[in-house]
Amino acid sequence: MTLGRGCAKYNLMGKNEAAKEISRLRGEINRHNYRYYVLDSPEVPDAEYDRLLRRLEELEAAFPGLVTPDSPTQRVGARPAAAFGTIKHTIPMISLANALSRDEALDFDARVKKILGLAPEEKVDYVGEPKMDGLAVELVYEDGVLVRGSTRGDGEVGEDVTQNLRTVRSIPLRLTGAFPKLLEARGEVFLPLDAFRKLNREREERGEALFANPRNAAAGSIRQLDPKVTAGRPLDIFCYGVGVVQGATPSTHLETLELLKRSGLKINPFVKLLHGIEAAIDYHDQMEARRDSLDYELDGAVLKVNSLEQQRRLGVITRSPRWAIAYKFAPKQEMTRVIRIEVGVGRTGALTPVAILEPVFVGGVTIERATLHNLDEVERKDVRVGDTVIVQRAGDVIPEVLEVIMAKRPVGAEPFRMPSVCPVCGSVVDRVKAIHYCTGGLSCPAQLKESIRHFASKRAIDIEGLGDRHVEQFVDAGLVKDVADIYSKLKPESLKILDKWKEKSISNLLEAIEKSKRPSLERLIFALGIKGVGEHMARVLARRFGSVERLMEAGEEELLGVHEVGPETARSVVDFFRERRNIRVIEKLKAAGVVFPKEEGAPASGPLTGKVFLFTGSLSSFTRDEAKELVESLGGSCASSVGKKVDFVVAGEEAGSKYAKAKELGLSIISEDEFKSMVGR
Ligand code: IVH
Repeated sequence: MTLGRGCAKYNLMGKNEAAKEISRLRGEINRHNYRYYVLDSPEVPDAEYDRLLRRLEELEAAFPGLVTPDSPTQRVGARPAAAFGTIKHTIPMISLANALSRDEALDFDARVKKILGLAPEEKVDYVGEPKMDGLAVELVYEDGVLVRGSTRGDGEVGEDVTQNLRTVRSIPLRLTGAFPKLLEARGEVFLPLDAFRKLNREREERGEALFANPRNAAAGSIRQLDPKVTAGRPLDIFCYGVGVVQGATPSTHLETLELLKRSGLKINPFVKLLHGIEAAIDYHDQMEARRDSLDYELDGAVLKVNSLEQQRRLGVITRSPRWAIAYKFAPKQEMTRVIRIEVGVGRTGALTPVAILEPVFVGGVTIERATLHNLDEVERKDVRVGDTVIVQRAGDVIPEVLEVIMAKRPVGAEPFRMPSVCPVCGSVVDRVKAIHYCTGGLSCPAQLKESIRHFASKRAIDIEGLGDRHVEQFVDAGLVKDVADIYSKLKPESLKILDKWKEKSISNLLEAIEKSKRPSLERLIFALGIKGVGEHMARVLARRFGSVERLMEAGEEELLGVHEVGPETARSVVDFFRERRNIRVIEKLKAAGVVFPKEEGAPASGPLTGKVFLFTGSLSSFTRDEAKELVESLGGSCASSVGKKVDFVVAGEEAGSKYAKAKELGLSIISEDEFKSMVGR
C-alpha cells in the first residue's frame, strides 16, 4: 500500500474538495454495500468496490478531521473493548412460546381467536417468518446513525456489543431512505453454514476447540473482545421486529418489516403474509422442506398476528407474547448406539476418532458415522463403545456425538483409548495438545492420499476430475508418491495400464492437470498443506510475502510480526520449509511446469524492508493495529516480544516492562514522533 505517497497526493487537495469527494465515495460505497449484502445483487465487481474503499481510506488518512464514526471505513472497531458494558433495552426483549406439532399450532390459533372474540371459522392474518437459529440483537439508530448495538441478554439488560456489530456487513452504519428519527431494530445475527464449516475446519487445523453449531459460533463471534476477530467472521443478520420507533406509525407487522427494509435493514426473503392458520401451517411445512437447501440454520417458523392493534389486545404473558408462536421443525438430534469407534488419519496426520453408529434418521437423512473430533472430546463426553448417545447434524454436514445417556451405559463398557501406533502405517503416534498425530509423514499412505486430495481439491489447486477414487488408485499403484508426481508421473502410458482408464478419461484428466499449472499464490500456499494454514491464512501470507520464495525465507520472528499470525502458525510455516522433502517437492513442482506466481502489490521490499519494530505503551496517532499495518505496508515487520532481532522499539505513553527490557538489551528506542518521521507521516 502506498499510504505515504497517497497522503502527499491528497494533501494537494483542498479540505472542501476532499469533503465533497469523501461524501460522494461514502454514498457510493454504502449503496454498493446495500446491493451486495442486503439485496444480494452487486452492481460492480469486487475489485472496483475495493478501489473505492481504498480511495476513501487514503482520503481519510490525509484528512483525519473528516473521519466520522459512520464512515464505511470504520467497520472494524480498531480498539478491543476491555470488557462489555451493559445496555438496558427500552422495551424488554421477550421470547416466544413454542408449538411442537400441528395440534399445538391449531391451539395457538384457537386461543388468539377466543381473546379477539372471533368466531372459530374466521381467519386471522398471520405473518410467517423463518425462525433463525442465531443470536438476538438490538440495533439503535438515532437520526439514522447506528449508535448502540446489544445482545438480548436476560431480556431486560444486554451486553454492549456495538463495536462488534459494526463489523457485520449487512448492518448499515447509516440508514437509508425516509428512516424514522429513532429506530430500535431487532433481529437475529447468524453465521452462514459455509462460513461455519470453514471456521471449524480452520480451528481443527490449529487444534482449537470446535464450535458445536453455527449458533454458538455466531454468539462466540459477537462476544469477541477484539472486533477484528468478529470482522473476520462473515456474520449476517435478518431483522424481524422493533423496540421503540419514533417518527413512523406502521399498523401491521408487515408494515413494520417494510419500514425496516426501506431503512436499509435486511429482512428474510421468505417472509410471507398468510390468511388463516391452515395457510400458516402450510408455510411451516414448506419452510421445513426447504430447510436443507438454505445457507443458514433454521429451527422453525415464527407465526405472528399481522395487525398491531390485534397484537396489543392479545398482550404478553410470562415473558412471551400471545400474538406469536415459534412453530418448531423436527429436531436435528436423535438417539442411537455406538457400535464401535474407528480412528481415521487426516492430511496433517491428525488422528480422528469416529463413532460408527446404528443407522438413525436425523433431520431427514440417515447417519451411520459421527465424528468425535479428538481424544479430549471423547474424554470430555466420555463416549464408549456400546453407549447410547445423542447425535446431531450440526451445520447440516458432519454429524457429531453430542452426549452420552449415562443411564443406558452397558455394564463393563471400557473407556476409549487412542492407539499408540498409526492404524494405517504403524508409525508411532505423537500428541500435540488435544491432537494425536501419526509421525509417518508422507510415507503413511493415509496422509499421502489426504495431502494429494487436499492439493487437488477445488479450493486449492483445483484439478477437476481427480477424485478420491483416483487418488486411492494412483497411491496404491505406487504411481504417485507426492503431489508433484501428479505432474510428472501421470502420463498416457502409465495411466493406460491402470484399471478403468480409457483414452477419453485420460485426456480429460491430463487436460485438467495442465490447466491447474497456473494457480494464484494464495491457492498455491493453501495447497501445500502447511499445518495451521487454512484458506484465510494462505491469503494473509500471500498478501504479505508476495511469493512462495519470500515466504520460504521468512523467519519465525518475521512471521510473528504479521497481523493474525500466531506462534503456532509461525513455527509450523518455518518447520514446513525446513523439511527437505517439502523443498524437493516444491522444486519438482517447478520443474514440472507449475508456475509459482509473484503477487504484485505485496511489498517485496520497501523503505523498512528487513526492519523489525516493537511497539510498547499507547500511541497517540495510531492504534497498534494501524501502526503494525503501516510498518508492514512499507516492507517491515513487527515483533510481539523484546528480543535481539528487534531493530526499533517505539515507546508510546506509559511504556512499561518491555521498555525496561529493551533498555537493558541496549536496543534502539525511538519516540512516536521519530517513528512518524521515519514512515513519512
Ligand atoms: S420474534 C416477541 N422472530 O427466537 C417476539 N424471533 O424465542 C420476539 N428468533 O429471542 C422474537 N427468528 O432470538 C422472532 N423471525 C423471528 C425469529 C426470532 C429467530 C429468535 C430470537 C428470539 C427467539 C424467541
